[in-house]
Amino acid sequence: MIQDVFIIGATGNVGSTLVRQIFAKGDTNLNLHVNITRIVGLASSTHYFYAPVGISRDEALAFVEKKGQYEAYDSLFSILDAVRNTHAPDASELVFVDVTAAKGLEPFHKKIIKDTEFGIVTANKNPIALCDYKTFRFLTHDPGRYGFRCSVMAGAEAVNFFQDLKDVNDQPKLIQGCFSGTLGYICSQLEKGKQLSAIVRDAKERGYTEPHPRDDLNGLDVARKLLILARASGYPTEMKDIDVVPFIPDAYFSHDSVERFLAAITELDTSFAVKVQQAKGKGNVLRYVAKMQCENGKPKLTVGLKEVPVASPLGSLAGTSNKIMAVCEAYPADAPYAVEAPGAGLAVTAQNIRRDLLYQLKGRKHLIER
Ligand SMILES: NC(=O)c1ccc[n+]([C@@H]2O[C@H](COP(=O)([O-])OP(=O)(O)OC[C@H]3O[C@@H](n4cnc5c(N)ncnc54)[C@H](OP(=O)(O)O)[C@@H]3O)[C@@H](O)[C@H]2O)c1
Repeated sequence: MIQDVFIIGATGNVGSTLVRQIFAKGDTNLNLHVNITRIVGLASSTHYFYAPVGISRDEALAFVEKKGQYEAYDSLFSILDAVRNTHAPDASELVFVDVTAAKGLEPFHKKIIKDTEFGIVTANKNPIALCDYKTFRFLTHDPGRYGFRCSVMAGAEAVNFFQDLKDVNDQPKLIQGCFSGTLGYICSQLEKGKQLSAIVRDAKERGYTEPHPRDDLNGLDVARKLLILARASGYPTEMKDIDVVPFIPDAYFSHDSVERFLAAITELDTSFAVKVQQAKGKGNVLRYVAKMQCENGKPKLTVGLKEVPVASPLGSLAGTSNKIMAVCEAYPADAPYAVEAPGAGLAVTAQNIRRDLLYQLKGRKHLIER
């Protein structure tokens, strides 16, 4: 079976890397794959290109590089209508890929799952983290139609591991990890004796932070990732259930100007230096930890800055790496499941989107051996 792919967000960092990787890795090559990938659609936030017979490499690259004239659109629903009117289910399967960072695409995801036979692969965590648990369950109930492994720790087996634990009836009792490369980098630099404000400024200049660093330091991104993992494990959790303590006090987040924000947080340099030294005196380091712990069958979710022993699994984490640990029956506390991996990265994210696509192929065949 051919797998048709419609990539929304194709002009972005992840989207353009994905398009290039699909062609470079030969996913479209009949000599390599029985189930070839055919890119049939590409969309930016304003324009799209849909060709049911397939989009060539040159055409796709022109789109991602924003060269050429394309049809403008007002709503993704109109694109969906165009696809539904022309797609022949007997000839191919079709999957939409959401590699936008957009909020508000949840109704589009819902419509696809509710009213079509198409699948979705998303690296955008918003549709599954900003909705309620019921909607999450509705969207993700069929793993053959909804892939979201890149929404948390895109470089590792996190989401799929917890979905599988749920389905083998061994829900995790503990999930603990560091899921923010940016906050991991800041913690590592603090250990080297650098000042918080200088680290954040440097991280922003290197492109490690969100455009406004408060969107990393408020801890919400980490909380959303924890929520997705708890939900994937089958716990009916909501954002309001998470006790989120931001990396720095809330008061600083009112600065809309990045420059004012960076200037204001110099006030925190001394207190952070003291925290680091106090932790060091006890053989500890600071880590921004996300944790779900079950107490009497009820999950308790917390996100915040913690002291952890330097020699512990989270204490030994360096730089932008992410780590996740889980405890369940099969992986007890003295031998937990643990994965350290890049939490992001364009190439690894694009590859794991392609893996999610593979998992949706109903008649999947392995790569043809040469
Ligand atoms: N970077 C990583 O390593 C990584 C890892 C895991 C997950 N992710 C996730 O992947 C997603 C994409 O990240 P990115 O860095 O590639 O973002 P990006 O460079 O900002 O690209 C966003 C893309 O989405 C399009 N877009 C924006 N709003 C849209 C809307 N309302 N409807 C349709 N398309 C829209 C943009 O089109 P225009 O060109 O018209 O603006 C652009 O093509 C994010 O959700 C991110 O959290 C990223």
